[in-house]
Amino acid sequence: ADVHPFFGAHQSGIVTAVQEHLHFAAFDMMPRSDRDDLIELLQDWSYASARMTQGLEVSATGAVGGPAEAPPDDTGEALGLKAAALTITIGFGPTLFENDDGDRYGIRDRRPARLERLPAFVGDDLDPAQSDGDLCIQVCADDPQVAVHAIRNLSRIAFGRAKLRWSQLGFGRTSRTSAAQQTPRNLFGFKDGTANILADDAAALAEHVWVGEGDGPDWLAGGSYLVARRIAMLIETWDRVRLSEQQRIFGRDKGEGAPLSGGAESDAPVLARLDAHSHVRLAHHDGNNGIRILRRGFNYVGGNNELGRLDAGLFFLSYQRDPAQFVTLQRALSTDLLNEYIRHVGSGIWAVPPGAQQGSFVGAGLFD
Ligand code: HEM
Repeated sequence: ADVHPFFGAHQSGIVTAVQEHLHFAAFDMMPRSDRDDLIELLQDWSYASARMTQGLEVSATGAVGGPAEAPPDDTGEALGLKAAALTITIGFGPTLFENDDGDRYGIRDRRPARLERLPAFVGDDLDPAQSDGDLCIQVCADDPQVAVHAIRNLSRIAFGRAKLRWSQLGFGRTSRTSAAQQTPRNLFGFKDGTANILADDAAALAEHVWVGEGDGPDWLAGGSYLVARRIAMLIETWDRVRLSEQQRIFGRDKGEGAPLSGGAESDAPVLARLDAHSHVRLAHHDGNNGIRILRRGFNYVGGNNELGRLDAGLFFLSYQRDPAQFVTLQRALSTDLLNEYIRHVGSGIWAVPPGAQQGSFVGAGLFD
């Protein structure tokens, strides 16, 4: 579908068939902002998001319908473009609940106990300027201009209340969330998203992705936890690795994406027949107490360095019912053969509230 509803039981952009482009942004609240600022910001973001996801401008007057003497409400670069499957997904970081100068937003006692900064992992090389944030917005669309327009206008709407901390553009999805979608490829050339949780698997979503009624806190039921990891991929090194070794590292074949233990792409791997330190063997749920996550990452390239090496990688995004799912998997991957070719350089975690009801706004339950 070209238009995804903004309102509903869950926020769109999680199980929604993964779009082709990403613009992800993390925000910090301004130092003197208060509870009303936060509530009004979420209301304004929800209003503009509900319009933009329908292919409309951020307000009724928009880019050219207002007074000629004032800067327009909408920045205008999406005029004439369709909704392009735009989804806008909003999350709350641990620091929103734990600011230095007291309980500024009156929400400290509503912090989900599980919402904590991720622990340090072996090999982390994180840049604080590319990590964390009080709030995040994940924007996905099939048109990059539509995605950038959304983040640009939401940043503008935040003026005086929150400011952009860091952001990331992604092109080319590296997962699928629908059986109807072809499995895409990451920048190492391998099919990515084969064993992902899919939108029509209600049982897996309830068990692994949505925060349940009894999980706590109540306002987060029907939401999820989002982990973002900016993972640099050492492309030039990888490109000198022979094919058989590349396949051993993942545990899958490069052409079809089939497990090296045999069968077709969709067949389950026989773990014992894969290298003990291959990515799939270590990440598979059989070796991790049945733990699964919904992956929704994108490829990125941010130019190159002075040696002519690409600043390229995977902007990893995963949704899970409990952050412990990601932590368990990332620890299991500490001996991954892949680690020689990747570096985790950015990180963040956010609680993603359930969807808003029509007439309300995302996160309203936090202020009840
Ligand atoms: C599977 C690539 C990082 C979790 C896969 C597959 C590929 C891949 C090619 C096999 C196809 C598939 O099922 O999707 C990568 C690359 C990464 C990366 C290039 C870094 C640049 C991670 C991280 C995690 C993770 C950080 C979680 C902590 C998984 C899981 C599977 C998987 C759970 C499915 C395993 C299975 O059930 O067979 N990944 N991955 N990956 N990856 Fe990654």
